[in-house]
This record gives sequence, structure tokens and C-alpha cells, in this order.
Amino acid sequence: MNRVELSAKSGSTGILMGDSFSHLSEQVGRKRLVIITDSNVGKLYRNRLEGYDSIEIGVGERVKTLSTVKTIYERLVEMKVDRSYFIVGMGGGLVTDIAGFSASTFMRGIMFGFIPTTLLAQVDASLGGKNGVNFQGFKNMIGTIKQPEFCLIDFSFLETLSTKQILSGMAEMIKCGAISDKGLFEYIEGNHKDMISLDKSRLEKAVESTIRVKMNFVERDELEGGERMKLNFGHTVGHAIEKVTGIPHGYAVSIGMVAAARLSKTKGLLASGQLDRLEMLLRDIGLPTKIRADYKELIEAISMDKKSAGDSINMVLLSKIGSAAILKIPKEELRETVKEVCV
Ligand SMILES: NC(=O)c1ccc[n+]([C@@H]2O[C@H](COP(=O)([O-])OP(=O)(O)OC[C@H]3O[C@@H](n4cnc5c(N)ncnc54)[C@H](O)[C@@H]3O)[C@@H](O)[C@H]2O)c1
Ligand SMILES: [Zn+2]
Repeated sequence: MNRVELSAKSGSTGILMGDSFSHLSEQVGRKRLVIITDSNVGKLYRNRLEGYDSIEIGVGERVKTLSTVKTIYERLVEMKVDRSYFIVGMGGGLVTDIAGFSASTFMRGIMFGFIPTTLLAQVDASLGGKNGVNFQGFKNMIGTIKQPEFCLIDFSFLETLSTKQILSGMAEMIKCGAISDKGLFEYIEGNHKDMISLDKSRLEKAVESTIRVKMNFVERDELEGGERMKLNFGHTVGHAIEKVTGIPHGYAVSIGMVAAARLSKTKGLLASGQLDRLEMLLRDIGLPTKIRADYKELIEAISMDKKSAGDSINMVLLSKIGSAAILKIPKEELRETVKEVCV
């Protein structure tokens, strides 16, 4: 096990890389704890949850609402949870987002930590302190920024994921390499087959590098005033695709990255060899680079995004593998790019 500390203004997180669920009690000390999980994880890992008080929520983006949060508050009141308790979110990004938001707001905030159980949550969603729910069709519209006390990364949870879920997480890993760590990108180029078959040492190395990229951005710019925005590479178009078609987050981000990288090339920022490398890696892994969708619907969804206002939009582009830049893009130009990734 390898512990690294993420330090930000709202708090710091002990990231326990390659730890075991069985060490959970050491993280919460004398505090009593309630585990929030979802019905899939609850069923798959019933044996691990035995003996713990737990709250189970449903699955899928549709339950990521204030109404689910209200149900959690009600259960916490019923269980007489007070500030001497610890809340642990154990599940994918949906669970960590809802659990983190509920814990940050219940009784003005009680301590919480995460046990992310999807690759996507281990490398991305559980880290950085942003937690929230969707509202009126807008993704993550209501939320808080507060760092969890710990994030326990137990790789054994990944064994029950489908390949699709693994690939979804790998898209975020490639993103981190593309925007700021050429070494990580190259490592994935050379080792993706072993990573997909969950070769522990290779996966662990890449997960750790990805986490370090995310940590770096969060530590420098927790509130996303500038640099942290680069983590949104592929997400402007990606979120729209996710919303319109319902494909998994990482799949949508994969296509979004291709769109953003193509635009980077059109703007004269990215050499065509570098664009080809990104597209080839995504394709080799089995991630999509195009989507069967009506581009007008995607443009409409982008315009509805909470980060989009006026005639132009801030987008993260690539200048080379390992380096990103934020540029204001007229919506008209984005339209052409979106058209290109639609079939
Ligand atoms: N807060 C952030 O910074 C941040 C960053 C990225 C994504 N997110 C959020 O994360 C969510 C997506 O995360 P996700 O992809 O983990 O989705 P998810 O939590 O919906 O999990 C996907 C599916 O995998 C199941 N699952 C979880 N762990 C499993 C396991 N070990 N074995 C088998 N099945 C398992 C879940 O029950 C679910 O059906 C989105 O809501 C997104 O907005 C948040
Ligand atoms: Zn993402």
C-alpha cells in the first residue's frame, strides 16, 4: 500500500493506493460509520458490508437527484447519525458524488471518505472534492467542494466490472496523459492490453500516475478558476453525447477528445501526427471515436451546458500529447467539429 496526500484549501485527502477494504476501520478511528452504496455494489459485496450500517441507493444517472439526497438525510436522521459519525461512499462515481454531497451538507457537514469501486471513480470521480447531483436536466448542477478524508483504492473491486466499465475508466486515464503527462500516455500505448485484463502491477502504475495528474490540477486550482479546467478535455462535446445518447461517460469523453483534438489541429495548434496517435490509441483499446447521432441535437445540448454562455465557449484543446491549452471557441467553429464526429 502506498499513501499519498492531496492537499487543497477545503481539506486534504489521504489517498490509499492499492489498500484493502478490510483496513477501513483504521481510517475512521473511533468514529461510528455509515456506508452509502448502490444496489449493484450492495449485492455484489454483501459479505464485505456485513456488520456495517448501510444505506443503499438505486443505480443510474436518473437517481442522481436531490430526491435521493433527501432519502439519505431521512435515513441518517432515523439512524440518529450526528457529527460523531463518519460517512463512507462505496461505489462508482454516482455513489461517491451523492455520498460526498450528502455528507458535506448534512448537519452542515460531517466527515466522509470514499471507497471507489469502478476504475472511473478510482482515477477521477472520487478525487478532487467536487460532489453533487443533477438538477432539471443539468448535470452536476447542485454541489459542494470539500475534500474527502480518505480515498481507499482497493483494486480487487475492479474484478467484477465489465470490460465496458474498464474502458470507460481508461478514457479518463488517456485524457490525463493527453493533457499533462506524455509518459502516462506512452505507458498506456504500450500496456493497454494488460491493463484491460487487470494485470495488477501495470494497472496500478497507470492508476497512480493518473491520480497524480488529477491531484496536481486540484492542488493548484481547487475551485477551477483556470488550470483545473484542463481536466475537462473531451467533456464539452462528451457531456452532450452522454446526455443525448446515454452511452457510458468514458465512451462519450473518448469521442469528445477526438472532437477537441481535431479542432486543435484545425486551429493549427496540434500536429496531425499527434492527432492520429490519440485516435489510434482510443481505437486500439476499443473506445469509440465517432457517434451515431444528430449533430444538431448535440449542439443544442452543448448550448444548454452550464458552462456555455454567449456566442463562444471555453474549450480545452491540445498543443501536443502531454500539453493542453484553454481557448475561446466561437460556437460556429464547434458546430463543424461536432458534425465531423457524427455518423
Ligand atoms: N466528482 C467528480 O469529480 C466526477 C468526475 C467524473 C465523473 N463523476 C461522476 O461519476 C459518475 C460516473 O461514474 P461511474 O462510471 O463510476 O458510474 P456509476 O457509479 O454509475 O457506476 C457504473 C455501474 O457500475 C456498477 N458498479 C460499481 N462498482 C462496481 C463493481 N466493483 N463491480 C461491478 N459493478 C460495479 C454500478 O452499480 C453502476 O451500475 C457520473 O455521475 C459522473 O458525473 C464525477
Ligand atoms: Zn469525466
